[in-house]
Amino acid sequence: MENTVTITDNRTEKQYTLPITNDTVKAMDLRKIKVNPDDFGMMSYDPAFTNTASCKSQITFIDGDKGILRYRGYDIADLAAFCTFPQVAYLVIHGELPTPEQESAWLTELRAHMYVFENIKKFMEGFRHDAHPMGMLVSTMAALSTFYPDAKDVRNPETQMHSIHRIIGKIPIIAAYGYRHSKGLDYIPPEPKMGYAENFLNMIWARSPMEHLRNPVLARALDVLFILHIDHEQNCSTNAMRAVGSSEADPFLSTAAAAAGLAGPLHGGANEAVLKMLGEIGSKENIPEFIKGVKEGKQKLMGFGHRVYKNYDPRAKQIKKTAEEVFTITGRSKKIDLAMELERIALTDDYFVSRKLYPNVDYYSGIIYEAMGLEPKMFTVLFAIPRAVGWLAQWHELINDPEQKIARPRQVYVGHEQRKLPDSYTHAAR
Ligand code: CMC
Repeated sequence: MENTVTITDNRTEKQYTLPITNDTVKAMDLRKIKVNPDDFGMMSYDPAFTNTASCKSQITFIDGDKGILRYRGYDIADLAAFCTFPQVAYLVIHGELPTPEQESAWLTELRAHMYVFENIKKFMEGFRHDAHPMGMLVSTMAALSTFYPDAKDVRNPETQMHSIHRIIGKIPIIAAYGYRHSKGLDYIPPEPKMGYAENFLNMIWARSPMEHLRNPVLARALDVLFILHIDHEQNCSTNAMRAVGSSEADPFLSTAAAAAGLAGPLHGGANEAVLKMLGEIGSKENIPEFIKGVKEGKQKLMGFGHRVYKNYDPRAKQIKKTAEEVFTITGRSKKIDLAMELERIALTDDYFVSRKLYPNVDYYSGIIYEAMGLEPKMFTVLFAIPRAVGWLAQWHELINDPEQKIARPRQVYVGHEQRKLPDSYTHAAR
């Protein structure tokens, strides 16, 4: 079997044979298709990149029809069951699970970067008391770029790793400080000797720097949630990370851009929107009316649907399990029963079945965060902390990929032909 495709241009009756590699044709090969030799040539048109592979990647594999998600070849359920977040973060960044020595060196590196300069604290104090924590995270991450000018040397392998350690070490601190700022509370310094998730919870919960609050069940639950959120191949925020990173902007700026992409309600902001939606529905009797509104296009069922998954999101399955473990400590949230009933009704309704709309990662995660005492406006920040690892792995892959260049899509211009300025303007200038 020949690995080519032949296209006939019916305008000219000419045939073009294009090579097929990894089930793709190169969009640049289409440019050979022309009517006249001086034509620009054919392009592909793909708003929202629904059928365009922008890179080759070895990090995450998704089979959306079968509901499969793997990092570096390992099944997400196995990683969530048997590994810690720092181990999986190492895997995603370096490509292999760490040996005990590598893990110890990795933890030492991350711990060495678990601090922020005093100026960063002052910078964060400048936000209004009601500033959204995602806005604070995006801006503070961008501000970090000004503290680490060496990060601009993006082609240097040592600098690349240094920036990766810095960002993974610092992002939970910025996230926790944003939360405490919005509560009018003093910042709790990080305790690098604690586990990654455990330290984050302590920075949120502790009443004074002397207090060290440990809850192994909740810390492990957050660790699992962090693992499940690390990477998800070329989603909106990762695409932003790669697009901005391709200009050789430093990784702090690229991470800030990626976090901005995550903030929207159609992406990472959906976990916050789910809690708002459940609050508005209020009780099980109101579900049919709500579903009717969704079908009439009045609102979306937030936390449902995915561009890639046309089956149950494997992360949502794990999160449902984790929720039950959390409730053994926090008590059962009423919202989980409402959410499960809403899911049950939606999954028996032809509107959702025919469109293959299932719960995604954001459907149940917010219910757990709320049970842990966190407010909805913090939920997307909790997504951003682990996703920073995925963004950085993708950035590292991009920056070392000889096939990549600055991201610069084409457009189909459908505006005016050339026209003259109106007389009223040219007269005024005289
Ligand atoms: N509620 C109701 N209808 C929906 C929903 C939903 N949540 N999602 C998709 N649809 C409908 C959509 O209206 C369309 O119907 P029709 O064919 O009649 O026009 C059909 O399903 C296909 O949807 P689409 O908008 O073409 O799908 P997409 O791939 O462009 O969008 C999505 C994917 C995630 C943006 C969308 O499903 C959505 O808005 N979901 C709610 C927000 C959400 O939960 N986002 C989190 C995504 S997972 C975490 C992450 O990676 O960020």
